[in-house]
Amino acid sequence: MFRGQAVQPLSVAPRVMPVDTMPVNRGEPPMSLEEMTVKMKNPLKPTPANLDHGKFLFLTDCAPCHGESGDGNGPVAHLLKDHPKDLISGTSKVLPDGYIYGVIRDGIMLMPSYDDAMSPNERWDVVMYVRSLQNQPPASKTASR
Ligand code: HEC
Repeated sequence: MFRGQAVQPLSVAPRVMPVDTMPVNRGEPPMSLEEMTVKMKNPLKPTPANLDHGKFLFLTDCAPCHGESGDGNGPVAHLLKDHPKDLISGTSKVLPDGYIYGVIRDGIMLMPSYDDAMSPNERWDVVMYVRSLQNQPPASKTASR
């Protein structure tokens, strides 16, 4: 039988991250939710392309729980012990962008973390889209797609 060359653990440098893969927290200093809430501002402009991308991500990743309109009544909401938050009315409207960003990154209670599932720009696109949902008149909320 052919014997491969033995490689001792860490005797060679670990593989370098391939280009265009997504390391966690790329370019971000480690920050607590409190720090993100206070310090982080959305660096992206609400261009149609960014909003479209945010909408795509929201419908894929958030709407199952929070609903397409963001009202907290997504199709799997009834399976959860604690109800997903209504993101479009009441106190949600005054949540700082940095807080929403931080919750997406780290998750909260039953909500999963999107730390390695979304890049920072993708999280900001989602924040931007949530803000746009909050600013829609009630009538158009049910027909958000
Ligand atoms: C598995 C279901 C689920 C998914 C998927 C999910 N959430 Fe949540 N989310 C929750 C639940 C449940 C809570 C309430 C947590 C708690 O009890 O504090 C929550 C809370 C939040 C909050 C905090 C609101 C507040 O008032 O503090 C925000 C913001 C939020 N979600 C945004 C999102 C966004 C944006 C996405 C998509 C990237 C998403 N969520 C995906 C279940 C989910």
